Amino acid sequence: MDETKRILQLREELHRHNFRYYVENAPVISDQEFDFLMHELQDLEAKHPEMFDPNSPTQRVGSDLGGEFETVVHERPMLSLGNTYNREEVADFWQRVSEGLKGAPFQICCELKFDGLSISLHYEDGRLVRAVTRGDGVQGDDVTANVRTIRSIPLMLPAEGDWPGRFEIRGEVLMPWSSFDRLNAEREQAGEPLFANPRNAASGTLKSKSSSTVARRGLDAYLYYLLGEGIPGDGHFQNLEAAARWGFQISKNMRLVDSLEGVYEYIDYWDEHRKDLPVATDGVVLKVNSLAQQKSLGMTAKSPRWAIAYKFQAEQAETTLRQVVFQVGRTGAVTPVANMDPVQLAGTQVRRATLHNADVLASLDLHIGDRVLVEKGGEIIPKIVGKAEGNNSKFKVQNSKIEFVECCPVCGSKLVRYEGEAAHYCPNDTGCPPLILGRIEHFISRKAMNINSLGPETVDEYYRQGLIHDAADLYELGEKQPPSDSPKGESNKASLWGGLEGAKILAGIEQSKQVPFERVLFAIGIRFVGEIAAKTLARYYGSMDKVAEASMESLMQVNGIGEVIAGSVVQYFANPANQAFIERLRGYGLQMEIGEEQKQAQSDKLEGQSVVISGVFQHHSRDEYKALIEQHGGKNVGSISNKTSFVLAGENMGPAKLEKAQKLGIRIMSEDEFLEIIK
Ligand code: IVH
Repeated sequence: MDETKRILQLREELHRHNFRYYVENAPVISDQEFDFLMHELQDLEAKHPEMFDPNSPTQRVGSDLGGEFETVVHERPMLSLGNTYNREEVADFWQRVSEGLKGAPFQICCELKFDGLSISLHYEDGRLVRAVTRGDGVQGDDVTANVRTIRSIPLMLPAEGDWPGRFEIRGEVLMPWSSFDRLNAEREQAGEPLFANPRNAASGTLKSKSSSTVARRGLDAYLYYLLGEGIPGDGHFQNLEAAARWGFQISKNMRLVDSLEGVYEYIDYWDEHRKDLPVATDGVVLKVNSLAQQKSLGMTAKSPRWAIAYKFQAEQAETTLRQVVFQVGRTGAVTPVANMDPVQLAGTQVRRATLHNADVLASLDLHIGDRVLVEKGGEIIPKIVGKAEGNNSKFKVQNSKIEFVECCPVCGSKLVRYEGEAAHYCPNDTGCPPLILGRIEHFISRKAMNINSLGPETVDEYYRQGLIHDAADLYELGEKQPPSDSPKGESNKASLWGGLEGAKILAGIEQSKQVPFERVLFAIGIRFVGEIAAKTLARYYGSMDKVAEASMESLMQVNGIGEVIAGSVVQYFANPANQAFIERLRGYGLQMEIGEEQKQAQSDKLEGQSVVISGVFQHHSRDEYKALIEQHGGKNVGSISNKTSFVLAGENMGPAKLEKAQKLGIRIMSEDEFLEIIK
């Protein structure tokens, strides 16, 4: 057979097997046979580069060539759903629908509410052409390359299907519990921060710049909404049945009901049985089934009137409180943590729970021996939400009321509480180990000095071995003996930092000397000086010395700098230890003033102006426009009000924003006009 024909045949065959394996869980060939066909296809494709197709089954492994995601305006806005939390609110929904349809009979399609992130998939002539995240509902990110790696999403539909030439299908991208547990176990091993829940993990993964990472992480997807002209019929449920025939993964747990009781039964059943599902769900979605009825009910500004979500209550369990310990985090925040008798909760055994802060602890009025209620919400760490019913003094250990500590349990410093903050902090940021480590981690982090050759685990190790005591010590590492049992496997002392890992670490540190001054100012970790404030100060004063000399009055004149930040800056530079630290950094060659180019690109042409950015742009990205506005003294704000100076509008500006701007008589400025002004 002609090789190009064989390529097409293999692709179709492999898509079919893929569907049988990943969607239907019923493979008809062995893994080995599958691999065999895949290899044949790979070889043929290598021989025929002109036949390249991004939708070929060979492309499911992804690549590392990812750039920025393109912003795409949704063909139809992606609305969200109103939430309900109890039966009465569900009954109100039923009533509203019934009245809206003037008493006509209707059916409700009950579905699970999957807890992932929504995705919009576009198909043309049976091929996946685009996958877009929800974004703000009006526009999202084009994540097609990443979505292609999700095996349960069909890249090509079977030729014999009755699918429309062009349609959109929406659904949820999820990380199944099994993939989530595996990923977090790997991250724990590598000393990387854990994902709090499968939703965050799915979202972080889908927005990854490397589609081969996405391919490895085992995402899955369920589709639940078919849109476009020429979709099969009037029934939402029936349309999804058709989509299932075309190869989409549609939940098998959807039900059509025609009474409120039917809805309640569905809710009750799944509130109990959702624990047995392979993916996270956080509720039930109820949709009027007939598309004609949906249309006649219409929407409000934010959500459709024909659908609603019912949210499950978080799972709770009862156990006995044994001890409360106080943990000092890397910001110095002190968190009370409860140790309890182990109890089974939402699929895992739980023996620790957070008590958040002093106020929460006081309001719970806990004693050692109390029977307590533990809940697992959206976060990975469970929390104590109250005492169990019937808890009484017979369990309590006498005089055991738990009080918040006054001193740091690590270094003994008296704790402080900053105005407006719930947490208590250890203030000893140059002497208390967790805080020192926190400061170094902040220093090397991506938005600061971006020394990504070092991870928190390595920093911990160097600190433990006495190689570093603060961030400035990093720049002297090259002269020191590398740790003998370094976690990076640098075991040969004789090679010093010459080994591959060691050299990489040192190169990363060396490179950071080029990081612009504004990020150095952020990296040194002045309390309350975040990324934006650091940028503002760097641009206003131009150098570390000028910032260090600035008085309270001068600082407070800077746009966006208030009393709290100003006070913190003055306090920081008044401390001789900090002055010495800065001098050391200067000595190692870090950037202590803004670059020439930046000095020239600055002006005060937009001084005092508040600018809203809206729409899609031709010449620069949104972030670049934001930076340009700031460079010229203006401020970028999120929403339009009568304080807005003008709207910088690209194409497809959101209709709500446009209307509001027009109503308030606010100037709408095009990209070109804007660039002319700041030229
Ligand atoms: S329908 C206009 N069905 O919940 C109807 N949404 O706040 C749009 N979700 O953004 C959504 N499972 O990400 C629908 N079976 C389901 C769903 C579902 C989860 C998510 C979706 C949406 C959010 C609604």
